Amino acid sequence: MPAPRPTTSGQPHPAEADGGEAEEFVRLHHGEHPDQPVPLTARLQQIRTQIDETGTYTHTADELVFGARVAWRNSSRCIGRLYWKSLRVLDRRQATTADDVHQHLGDHLRQATNGGRIRPVISIFAPDTPESRAPRVWNDQLIRYAGHRQDNGDIVGDPTYADFTATVKRLGWQAPGGAWDVLPWVVETDQDKPQLFDVPPNLVLEVHLTHPDRPDFADLGLRWHAVPAISNMRLRIGGINYPLAPFNGWYMGTEIGARNLVDADRYNLLPVIAEHLGLDTSSEATLWRDRALVELNVAVLHSFTQAGVKISDHHTESRHFMTHLAKEAKQGRTVPADWSWIVPPVSGGITPVFHRYYEEADQRPNFYLDDDAKARGKGGCPFGHG
Ligand code: ARG
Repeated sequence: MPAPRPTTSGQPHPAEADGGEAEEFVRLHHGEHPDQPVPLTARLQQIRTQIDETGTYTHTADELVFGARVAWRNSSRCIGRLYWKSLRVLDRRQATTADDVHQHLGDHLRQATNGGRIRPVISIFAPDTPESRAPRVWNDQLIRYAGHRQDNGDIVGDPTYADFTATVKRLGWQAPGGAWDVLPWVVETDQDKPQLFDVPPNLVLEVHLTHPDRPDFADLGLRWHAVPAISNMRLRIGGINYPLAPFNGWYMGTEIGARNLVDADRYNLLPVIAEHLGLDTSSEATLWRDRALVELNVAVLHSFTQAGVKISDHHTESRHFMTHLAKEAKQGRTVPADWSWIVPPVSGGITPVFHRYYEEADQRPNFYLDDDAKARGKGGCPFGHG
């Protein structure tokens, strides 16, 4: 068996399947779905033999679907888990070339966007095995806006992506240079150097922000994309790693209106909005930041809804999470949750999720964010500065 290849961060790649975790997963699968074509003991024997012979094993289509859905169910930072059973799973394990990957990513966006009626979708590409290294995408999400560093140090666009933007420019990206340029995909496969692909513009649904009672709000020229699709987390099912398994849900408004457009190291727009609204910014005690923040969040929810793009507000989503907790308790399952991620970034105390604590267990299957994936997302490799 060949030695595991190092990742770009220099850590060895866990390419062999973990037999113990495989067994635990298959038992969970059969426990929750008892009528399987192959009985539990026979399936466990198959897997043991495959691991002995090849160092890994292959998930059935059914195991893949179940594994992906449970990985979502176990994602302790996600408030939207009530819908975990509805996850649409696209089995892309056969894709090998960068071009295949690019086609499937496009198809993912098409199915996920669904004309605005956003559907939760995951595309699962080949896992890491002792034989071959899985494909990867350097982008941390399928749709993100570039951050263009100017000579004076200012950044036009999303500052979080300034390093990544510089990297893709070095790889040959012809950047338009605006505040809302969708970053191209960087697809890396076993056979090939990283390849750049423009995201087909017809697959990127965006919403221009307007405000229900401020017609001039539109003059700010703000917008956001409809689909948040995380593409840098490793999906781990039954002791097997799928480094490329992009997944999406729909947005909760605060992700855009209280973080992406607001964080000081993102678009940092509160001062701009406050000025536009004519707020008194002479002292913190006027709560101009809070007032601007609320109006921006009103605009986000209003604009998405007007455009026919699915989005949810933090009050509704918090209530749904409470329903999820109750449903899971009925099934005898605990819901691992990370309070600091579950509580919305605005109005925390007036949502029910605020007023309790949660278990923080690492239950598998699950999604993991590796250092090498983080480094790729920052454009930190393979050039070694980042
Ligand atoms: N917060 C991230 C963003 O604004 C997206 C994370 C996933 N969010 C979701 N609603 N599924 O892009």
